[in-house]
Amino acid sequence: MVLNKQKLQAVLLTEGKNTDLPFSLHIFESVASTNKTLWELLSQKPGSECVVIAAEQTAGRGQWGRQWLSQKDGLYLSFGFAPKLDINLGYQLTLATAWGIAEQLRKYGIDVEIKWPNDLVLDGRKLGGILTETKVSGRKITQAVIGVGINWKNPVPSTGINLHSLKERGNPIQISCLEKLAAVVLLGIHSGIECLEREGVNILLSRYIKLLSNMGDKVYVNDDFSGTVVGVTAAGNLHLHKLSPNTLSVTPASIFLQPGTISLGYRKYKD
Ligand code: BTN
Repeated sequence: MVLNKQKLQAVLLTEGKNTDLPFSLHIFESVASTNKTLWELLSQKPGSECVVIAAEQTAGRGQWGRQWLSQKDGLYLSFGFAPKLDINLGYQLTLATAWGIAEQLRKYGIDVEIKWPNDLVLDGRKLGGILTETKVSGRKITQAVIGVGINWKNPVPSTGINLHSLKERGNPIQISCLEKLAAVVLLGIHSGIECLEREGVNILLSRYIKLLSNMGDKVYVNDDFSGTVVGVTAAGNLHLHKLSPNTLSVTPASIFLQPGTISLGYRKYKD
């Protein structure tokens, strides 16, 4: 189903309480990847704010070079803007977006949590993911494309969940259509980036960590050692306290893992 542009704009106005979201909006039936299409549009109009949404993707991009399965009835959305962020801080855009979207969905009664670094999880399963791509000039990120995939009614693998399954389990949700979900996601991206820009990364991180499902988890790193998750740094690294049963030291050693170096997996669940 292709989103209705007028309906989405109307929902954005009511849900966003007239928040000014000055982007151009492009809706497609089918594209290879909304991130790719958005980069093409931005090459003609660099520096502008732009949104691309597609009913399906034939070559959706996931994190770490994976494919993002993108059949019809899911949300596939990309937002492009010029952040002017330091070259090393691009990961903050992913953290900000993950927090913003999770927080917005929670306002609609959907108890979304974040799995480090970029997964949106519900009931221990993957509801959606974020892929941020950037262009750099000198020491600055001059253009960013934030791609968001959220499972709405599309088929999902066993570790995934879609929002429609909540309805089927007799748990009515306050998001009634794909246009409303797109509006909630756009408002979430907006509020996450606004938090980062206006309040700074430390406030953002304190909010991100409150929704982080991995806090306190024991993590094994390459069979070498294990640690307890105690936080996430401003560069997006996972902060662990190393568990060392053989040492008498009272101060645990800190270990920092970059995104992509380990996968935290999904919680085991019972249907
Ligand atoms: C992940 O692997 O968890 C991130 C998935 C991001 C998928 C979205 S769907 C919309 C946008 N376009 C893409 O090609 N990928 C992102």
